[in-house]
Amino acid sequence: MRGIVLAGGSGSRLYPLTRITNKHLLPVYDRPMVYFAIEALVSAGIDRILVVTGGNHAGEFLPLLGNGSQFGLKHLDYTFQERPGGIAEALGLAEHFAGSQPVCVMLADNIYETSIASAVRRFGTQGDGARVLLARVSEPQHYGVPVMEGDRIVRIDEKPASPASAYAVTGCYMYDNGVFEIVRTLVPSGRGELEITDVNNAYVRRGKLCHEVIDGFWADCGESFGSYLRAANLVASNGANRPAADR
Ligand code: DAU
Repeated sequence: MRGIVLAGGSGSRLYPLTRITNKHLLPVYDRPMVYFAIEALVSAGIDRILVVTGGNHAGEFLPLLGNGSQFGLKHLDYTFQERPGGIAEALGLAEHFAGSQPVCVMLADNIYETSIASAVRRFGTQGDGARVLLARVSEPQHYGVPVMEGDRIVRIDEKPASPASAYAVTGCYMYDNGVFEIVRTLVPSGRGELEITDVNNAYVRRGKLCHEVIDGFWADCGESFGSYLRAANLVASNGANRPAADR
């Protein structure tokens, strides 16, 4: 399995902090934000990782991350997204890197308390399709929200005014290699982006989207200043990417 860290986008919700640097280089307690996504993949045994970034500060990732030795990696791959055309567009840039492998995609502004290792293992036994991780949240309207029938996801609504459940689809997505075929069929949404929710809904329509609810906290650092502060406090008090047995 290949790992893909998505660290492009404009970071406009954290202006003016992100006028002078890329959002994912900002500190979250004791580490730059992007570290958490790379550590999450490494904790799941994934050692071939592509970082997708963009914008005026993309060059700063190289001196920070280098070849990934601080994560125990021998090498890191990088690519450049020329404009913030959406999460699914950024994912599409990883097709050559994935080759024929399945992928685990991490949004670089997401932090998980518990390692994703067991979810990645369960995806491995799933065979094909996709797997998403859900978190119970107090304000689902800011996220992709699953519409559930019993324990089945029948649709995902992106930032719905009236959320159909109290869950967010978090920013760790596991896909079989057919995902790149799906990305090619997407059209830009109202906000002019290729949406990851449209990718996930394509798997729902095929009856191939599995899900699980995460243990521990989940934080989206880029949603607002409040969520950024909350993430730092949670990391300071609980740590991140911890083995499940360790909690
Ligand atoms: O955090 C989870 C949420 O992330 C999901 O619940 C939503 O369904 C999903 O659409 C996404 O929503 P956001 O509005 O929070 O996404 P945002 O635009 O903040 O992008 C998240 C990360 O994706 C960002 O930190 C970097 C990467 N990204 C984003 C865009 C728009 C890229 O690499 N390239 C891009 O063009």
